[in-house]
Amino acid sequence: MSDDLIFDSPFILGMMRLNERPEFDDADRFGDWLESRVERGLHWFDHADSYGNHEGEKRFGEALARRPGLKSRVRVVTKGDIVLPSRDRSPFGVKHYDTSERYLTSVIDGSLSRLGVERLDHFLLHRPDPLMDAEATARALDDAIDAGKVGAVGISNFLPEQWRRLQATMHHRLGVHQLELSLAHPDALFDGFYDAILADGLAPMAWSPLGGGSVFEDVLGTALSRLAEQLNSTTAGLALAWLRRLPGSPVPVIGTLNERRIDNLLLSSNLEIDRPTWFALLEEARSHRVP
Ligand SMILES: NC(=O)c1ccc[n+]([C@@H]2O[C@H](COP(=O)([O-])OP(=O)(O)OC[C@H]3O[C@@H](n4cnc5c(N)ncnc54)[C@H](OP(=O)(O)O)[C@@H]3O)[C@@H](O)[C@H]2O)c1
Repeated sequence: MSDDLIFDSPFILGMMRLNERPEFDDADRFGDWLESRVERGLHWFDHADSYGNHEGEKRFGEALARRPGLKSRVRVVTKGDIVLPSRDRSPFGVKHYDTSERYLTSVIDGSLSRLGVERLDHFLLHRPDPLMDAEATARALDDAIDAGKVGAVGISNFLPEQWRRLQATMHHRLGVHQLELSLAHPDALFDGFYDAILADGLAPMAWSPLGGGSVFEDVLGTALSRLAEQLNSTTAGLALAWLRRLPGSPVPVIGTLNERRIDNLLLSSNLEIDRPTWFALLEEARSHRVP
């Protein structure tokens, strides 16, 4: 992967909830928000065409259009292949996945146009499609890289055999894997899944690194806040430090758009934890002793 595609910030800002924030209907207001984040070194943003049924990408593009100077400073990841029920033209109106060559080409063009950027730095297949014709999918993805529309292609939520079937027919290397990983969902660390990602040279990105907010609850939430106080950090900061301690240092894709919470996460992004702390947190998360 070329240097400009490496995640050079402590976390990525996830845009899944952007369309849920009415104040960001105002493109200028969201433009201000974007500018402040980029000025703090947070220039990587994670999208999907399905977030808000295209609305997330659209809002981002409209804000960038008001701040032309930002365009060359932001880096975007986006995902596609999910067809929402409202976009299915069949009589079924069914949510499904589409990795056909024609569909993926139109998805990439659509995201480029809505985001208003020259290139999608990373384009990921959002969900594995049981009907994937690997050769056709590979052709669409390789062609998008060759045409300069996409910097690198990756996958999300794919099992090893699924991404290997795709990789075997591609000319370019898959770059990243975006997986669900957090103290609230640590299973990938114990079933060989995370090891397969590293062994195949994929850069790991962790979605919902705070478990969508669930790490703050119950026994785990209490343990995190007690330890965070001892370490002079914050609960959320400690939960991300737990992830970064892993080999391959997965880059967290956080979901909050709250400026104070993002600033706090940035302040605690240098926190390093030792092995006993890492395992003590794991025990609390799984509510049983390390075997
Ligand atoms: N590839 C995939 O299939 C996939 C699936 C899901 C998500 N994603 C990506 O992952 C991103 C993050 O997902 P997520 O929103 O579930 O992630 P998250 O960062 O694990 O959770 C965010 C939630 O935690 C809450 N929260 C409570 N206290 C917080 C604190 N002190 N600091 C930060 N957050 C706090 C936030 O509330 P407030 O919003 O009120 O601050 C928000 O509801 C998405 O935006 C999307 O880009 C990818």
